[in-house]
Amino acid sequence: MELRSRTIIVTGAAGGIGTSIVAACARQGARVAAVDRVTPTIPTGEGIPAEAVTPFVADLSEASGCAQLIAEVTDRLGAVDGLVNCAGVMRRGDLLEIDEDDWAATYAVNVDAVMRLCREALPSLMNSESAAIVNIASQWGLEPADGHIAYNSSKAAVISLTRSLARDLGDRGVRANSICPGEILTPMLQQKLDDNGIAESELAANIPLGRLGRPAEVAELTTFLLSDRASFISGAAVEIAGAQQVGS
Ligand SMILES: NC(=O)c1ccc[n+]([C@@H]2O[C@H](COP(=O)([O-])OP(=O)(O)OC[C@H]3O[C@@H](n4cnc5c(N)ncnc54)[C@H](O)[C@@H]3O)[C@@H](O)[C@H]2O)c1
Repeated sequence: MELRSRTIIVTGAAGGIGTSIVAACARQGARVAAVDRVTPTIPTGEGIPAEAVTPFVADLSEASGCAQLIAEVTDRLGAVDGLVNCAGVMRRGDLLEIDEDDWAATYAVNVDAVMRLCREALPSLMNSESAAIVNIASQWGLEPADGHIAYNSSKAAVISLTRSLARDLGDRGVRANSICPGEILTPMLQQKLDDNGIAESELAANIPLGRLGRPAEVAELTTFLLSDRASFISGAAVEIAGAQQVGS
């Protein structure tokens, strides 16, 4: 119960990785604000107390949506101790293919919303004894994958934003880290594999550990970084990719 009594916001809570992070935070005793633009499912099961998770619906691509969300969460659940920015969108294309709308939509969620939610939550976080931000970036933010210029560069921006925040606000007791997942087998990826007749083992063949990552493994790293066990870890970009190199 390492996150006992902490109020933690998790965005992208209806998604493959976000769902696991919400459940893991709840299992560790947190009061979780599960945020998505579609209503997140409340996790149930062993070790998840009833009432631990409160769903919030917000469109984080709107500046006003971010400000309203933080106000609503603090109003209903109290001051924020932890913020996990997991909402993300991916639009494909190189610079000749990607249009202004796709570029803007990518940056609105992957970068601008992260900046705004961090900023809006800071007054709360700076009063917390255990303030921690975890931003879910991507391995592709460290090393770009072909044909995803908006996504790659947005995730690189998240890594840099997180490091900047950690440096600027360390003396106010706020830790900030990013997580850089490789290929994680979410329900959406499974669906894509099924639709295209690709076996999971084909994708796994490029990963030295011989398999895709699981959402629960990203969630485990997230709760660790939120907890006091990570009390001297800040400004890090932690890769969780089974030793795969981008492009291999
Ligand atoms: N799955 C992977 O292999 C992988 C790898 C590297 C990084 N990531 C990152 O992990 C995070 C979660 O990925 P996932 O695979 O679970 O994706 P997902 O698509 O299943 O989940 C993303 C969630 O973000 C929400 N979202 C998108 N736009 C929003 C908006 N405007 N307002 C509110 N919510 C919004 C979606 O509704 C969705 O529930 C993303 O940031 C993604 O870039 C995933």
